[in-house]
Amino acid sequence: MSISIKHTLHFIDSPDGFLADIAVPNTMLLIDENVKELHGKYFEKYNSITIPSGENQKKMEVVESIIDKLLDAGIDRNGTIIGVGGGVVTDLTGFVSSIYLRGVNFGFFPTTLLAMCDASIGGKNGINFGAYKNMIGTITQPNFIAFYPPFLNTLSDREFNSGMAEVIKHAVINGGALQKFLQENTRSEIQENPEKLKELCQLATEVKVNVVEQDEKESGLRKKLNLGHTIGHAIESTSDFTHGECVAIGMVLAAKIAVSRRLAKVDLMRDIIAYCNAYNLPTHTPLEPKVLMEKIVKDKKRRSSEIDFIMPYAFGDVRVFTLEIDELEHHLKELAHE
Ligand SMILES: NC(=O)c1ccc[n+]([C@@H]2O[C@H](COP(=O)([O-])OP(=O)(O)OC[C@H]3O[C@@H](n4cnc5c(N)ncnc54)[C@H](O)[C@@H]3O)[C@@H](O)[C@H]2O)c1
Repeated sequence: MSISIKHTLHFIDSPDGFLADIAVPNTMLLIDENVKELHGKYFEKYNSITIPSGENQKKMEVVESIIDKLLDAGIDRNGTIIGVGGGVVTDLTGFVSSIYLRGVNFGFFPTTLLAMCDASIGGKNGINFGAYKNMIGTITQPNFIAFYPPFLNTLSDREFNSGMAEVIKHAVINGGALQKFLQENTRSEIQENPEKLKELCQLATEVKVNVVEQDEKESGLRKKLNLGHTIGHAIESTSDFTHGECVAIGMVLAAKIAVSRRLAKVDLMRDIIAYCNAYNLPTHTPLEPKVLMEKIVKDKKRRSSEIDFIMPYAFGDVRVFTLEIDELEHHLKELAHE
């Protein structure tokens, strides 16, 4: 069943103007600690809960402590929760909001490139369970997502690049205007020109919105958005790499596997590696194939001895491929020496 989420996305000229319509009473902000320091001035009028930075916040204990604070503040069923931060805060906010009092209104101000172009869109809001990424969650759409690209001016280069990994992933999935944009604009042109940065975000969000609108519950098409994630999540749970860096490694390995199975031309793999290199993204796994496989077989997408592996065939042609676990292990061992 298709849904419409386009109307929830707003590219805004100033947070103040957008927030003028959101009442102060009965609203609670969940805000990343670094974002509060850098951009908190826009949100001062609201009650807020500060979320320490880092992936380890996406866990049940943190959810429970947020719920305690929402109850203390008297946020009721007509209340609104606003997440201000990167993907960690948008995931946490979406999850808390979808279970608190069986669901309250919520919206996001994504502040990382990764959250603007990917994590804030689509309603998925997983938290981690032990070492397992995004094992618990719901799919619940936010009431609004407000994009203010100038927030990205304070992002570290590493976090900017991390977001570019998901942008490159969207370009591989969709080809088209986003791929053309990446070909025609260098990193510094994008970072130094606010109009270009906004255009990048618009093109990348369009790709995600189009996929989610056609397959919200991930019964088919949406699985393509997991390109690079089966391997990426396995690396993320055992390394210090960022989410985007892990996706980059996973995407490159998927392209190498596609080439070695003669499903994709070698140029595709070279182009993906070139895009990753342009944004200083890693392209090799730090894990031995055996360790990587141990992590992958526990991945939530595992189905008996097979796995839904997202395979890039060409730009604009990414497919769900059923791969035997043994075959994947064989490929990873082969590729370990490249
Ligand atoms: N729900 C989804 O569909 C989806 C999709 C992709 C990724 N994700 C999730 O997103 C998370 C990763 O998100 P992320 O990369 O945004 O990481 P993050 O939320 O951890 O933010 C990265 C760092 O940037 C800092 N930061 C945020 N905004 C800033 C700003 N404007 N200026 C300076 N520093 C800023 C944060 O404090 C943090 O240290 C992962 O948990 C991943 O699983 C979810």
